Amino acid sequence: MTQRPSILVARAIFPEVVARLREHFDVETNDTDAPFTPAQLAERLQGKVGVLTTGSERVDAGLLAACPQLRVVANIAVGYNNFDVPAMTAAGVLATNTPDVLTETTADFGFALLMATARRVTESEHFLRAGLWTKWALDMFAGAEVHGSTLGILGMGRIGQGIARRGAHGFGMKVVYHNRSRLDAASEAACQARYVSKAELLQQADHLVLVLPYSAESHHAIGATELAQMKPTATLINIARGGIVDDAALAVALRERRIAAAGLDVFEGEPKVHPDLLTVPNVVLTPHIASATIATRKAMANLAADNVIAFLNQGQPLTPLNPEVLPKELRA
Ligand code: DGY
Repeated sequence: MTQRPSILVARAIFPEVVARLREHFDVETNDTDAPFTPAQLAERLQGKVGVLTTGSERVDAGLLAACPQLRVVANIAVGYNNFDVPAMTAAGVLATNTPDVLTETTADFGFALLMATARRVTESEHFLRAGLWTKWALDMFAGAEVHGSTLGILGMGRIGQGIARRGAHGFGMKVVYHNRSRLDAASEAACQARYVSKAELLQQADHLVLVLPYSAESHHAIGATELAQMKPTATLINIARGGIVDDAALAVALRERRIAAAGLDVFEGEPKVHPDLLTVPNVVLTPHIASATIATRKAMANLAADNVIAFLNQGQPLTPLNPEVLPKELRA
């Protein structure tokens, strides 16, 4: 009997997805769900041809050199800044991610965070829970208008366009965006979005939502200089990646009310959060949950599993990031 390929699932996922993988492979799981250290990950990957990862597992040249049998790494995330894709390509290792299945869910959450931030939902809830509500007042927790305001979007991929559609069609917002490349006219029309420079975006947005991928170029794309260009009444929402915002500079801007408020789902060095952000009241903080509905997280885990199954069984993954590692005839 030929030996079945062995794979690793690096973090706890849904049992039914593990069961699907077990129909094809010998599967080792991480039952404690504690993220592996790089050394533990390398050790657990010995003899494995595939692995399902999340953003907490770094895949770089060092790991690849230590795991020469590895052929495919499937991230259960659309973002893949935990991958060194050129190193994976050089090692002939396929990388995949989970686009599309989380777009609308993540856009929903971007809007939820925008609303909570503009309308001071968590700040006022803390006040109530602390027993401080003794009388109603006309200006109590008066926040910023959402409907009819200007929505700014930095990074206009699928999720950015989902947020733009919600703002334009649902809330009558004027939408401006900046992106590495401008959308085609039909996509701009569908989102009722106008392309502007980054400086114009910072100056015009009442609510600025960050939805760009993290890279060396986008590191601290929003720092003290950019925050100083925003309106003092503006809110900033980050559902993209930690490190895109200089969290220390943001905490100062929030404390000094140089912008009105922020909503953050991602943080530099998460799960650690800059201590100054924990002490300013005008920030809504959530633990990287923008795509977290049961249906969407299952869809993400299933797509990662499907990538590994399709690649190891037929050589043809569904959502490859480096199709150049595939034989020419299989590249989409
Ligand atoms: C993603 O899919 O990139 C989300 O941020 C979850 O990691």
